[in-house]
Amino acid sequence: MSLSLRILRYFPCRRFFQRRNNSFLRNFGVSASLQHKANIKDGPGLEHFLANSVIHKDLEPPPEAEVIIPYLDQISGDGQKVFFDVYGCQMNVNDTEVVWSILKNKGYEKTEDIRFADIILVVTCAIREGAETKVWNQLRNYRGIKNARAKLKDRLPLKIGVLGCMAERLKEKLVEKEKSVDIVAGPDSYRDLPRLLAISRDNQTAVNVMLSHDETYADVMPIRLNESSRSAFVSIMRGCDNMCSYCIVPFTRGRERSRPIASIVEEIKVLSEQGIKEVTLLGQNVNSYRDLSEQQHFFSAETNMAKGFKTVYKIKKGGLRFADLLDKVSLVDPEMRIRFTSPHPKDFPDEVLHLINERDNICKNIHLPAQSGNSEVLQRMRRGYTREAYLELVDHAREIIPNLSLSSDFICGFCGETDAEFDETITLMEGVMYNWMYIFPYSLREKTHAHRRMEDNVPLEVKKSRFERMSVTMRQTTERLNKSQIGRKQLILVEGTSRKSKLDYAGRNEANLKVIFPAEPIPESVASVSCREIKAGDYVVVEVRSANSQSLQGKALYHSSVREYGSSAVGPDTRELRAKETQSAVVI
Ligand code: SAH
Ligand code: SF4
Ligand code: F3S
Repeated sequence: MSLSLRILRYFPCRRFFQRRNNSFLRNFGVSASLQHKANIKDGPGLEHFLANSVIHKDLEPPPEAEVIIPYLDQISGDGQKVFFDVYGCQMNVNDTEVVWSILKNKGYEKTEDIRFADIILVVTCAIREGAETKVWNQLRNYRGIKNARAKLKDRLPLKIGVLGCMAERLKEKLVEKEKSVDIVAGPDSYRDLPRLLAISRDNQTAVNVMLSHDETYADVMPIRLNESSRSAFVSIMRGCDNMCSYCIVPFTRGRERSRPIASIVEEIKVLSEQGIKEVTLLGQNVNSYRDLSEQQHFFSAETNMAKGFKTVYKIKKGGLRFADLLDKVSLVDPEMRIRFTSPHPKDFPDEVLHLINERDNICKNIHLPAQSGNSEVLQRMRRGYTREAYLELVDHAREIIPNLSLSSDFICGFCGETDAEFDETITLMEGVMYNWMYIFPYSLREKTHAHRRMEDNVPLEVKKSRFERMSVTMRQTTERLNKSQIGRKQLILVEGTSRKSKLDYAGRNEANLKVIFPAEPIPESVASVSCREIKAGDYVVVEVRSANSQSLQGKALYHSSVREYGSSAVGPDTRELRAKETQSAVVI
């Protein structure tokens, strides 16, 4: 249990504390009400609070205290309905599943219909200005709903909570700017939500944005938002120490920490028993995973780092590492596909690559965020590698894992990026031949190194035109790659009926690419003549018949399994394709 939680358990009641000293709350990152800010300013430090918490820990609240907010243990949601509105990355989706688990446990219910909601929780992202603008706009809409609801005498007043990275970045400023917000909770304070919600029912604003060094929610079994899905997310670590110069994540999610391996394996076993067929291991830097609570390690190399890569922080020693985790996790259920995101290129030792190649249920698909194709820009971004080191890693990974499929993230228009530097991003995109890319125009984030030390000097128009060039390149390369799959057979994990037509099914290949095929009964196995219907969670072998830049279309041939079919080697041999297609053009 984290330190903050242990102390919160001893919180007798809010008013009791307010009488004694309001600043206890602030020292926790909890402001009972922003009106009390003046009182708060001169309060004691954390040590004082700790001392007081110890003094009070075994005491009943004094008789004069009117208990309004009970102990965390006694808080009940009493069936209040929560509506979740989730933005940002998969970590936010999984965090919402953690939040839902915590609240359900306290007697809250979930609703998909905002009209029935007593509480709206907006799980926010701060990665780019656009992500925050979306949330501000949505909060304005929610304010309208809240005001209309206030007129209904038979309903509880609607409460609005802002969670996640934007909550962490803006903290109390959020409440100052948008008065309708009742609760602000950062990514490490979700265990405190029942108490924050209880405070808000007393018409107080509740803020807890404390970041933790050890919170991993290891003991909280997330409750999946999409219960019918056969895929699940499992967080393996939180936070980031990389401090890329453009990125807000280290400030919103705090220091990197890994969840103990035993709790991850346990969660995956439960998911396997529930019929989950695909797990994505999540974290900001999954492959720098270190379970330092386990001091032996199974794989020999002491450092993860490949030649040509470096970090800004001190490398952790000992413990179990990502290769150990991948090894254990992939053995839980050989029919469960394992994916992971996001890794950082610096942490790909050969053990990890060999393991991916050897285990049929580890997808031969790596997200390898490059961010830029130019070494000077990469240096300004503080990515810790050059274009050459990145390309060497790509080639090395493809040598070990033939037909590996790759995806990546790219930013255009970073501080000082020249046309020539940007051209190198395009040539890298074309040269590597990614199966998928996420592309972004640079968005200045306060507090970051780039904000403090560099100038956001690429004009908006230039960013836009570079973004357009990246998106054209992306469409062209993915279409070329996807078309090269025509005629091949692939093992597809069926997701369910296609969104576009009830007559089709949709599933994913190992590269995580959508594959569409007619929903008709197919033979039970390669050698069987008896047919059965296809259902979500089945593995089927599909022959690809056509393709565009976003998906493949084909015909399902027969049911199969990971063990039977093995890896379906989804990537084309890109080295061959690259050689064929670029004989006349200089690519890298
Ligand atoms: N930990 C992950 C990234 C999380 S953020 C990783 O390192 O891959 C997802 C992506 O958003 C980043 O890879 C980067 O491409 C993009 N991004 C981050 N900060 C950005 C900014 N300030 N402007 C534009 N894009 C940004
Ligand atoms: Fe951000 Fe870099 Fe950390 Fe990814 S590795 S979250 S881009 S600081
Ligand atoms: Fe956004 Fe936070 Fe994820 S800033 S991308 S929600 S880690």
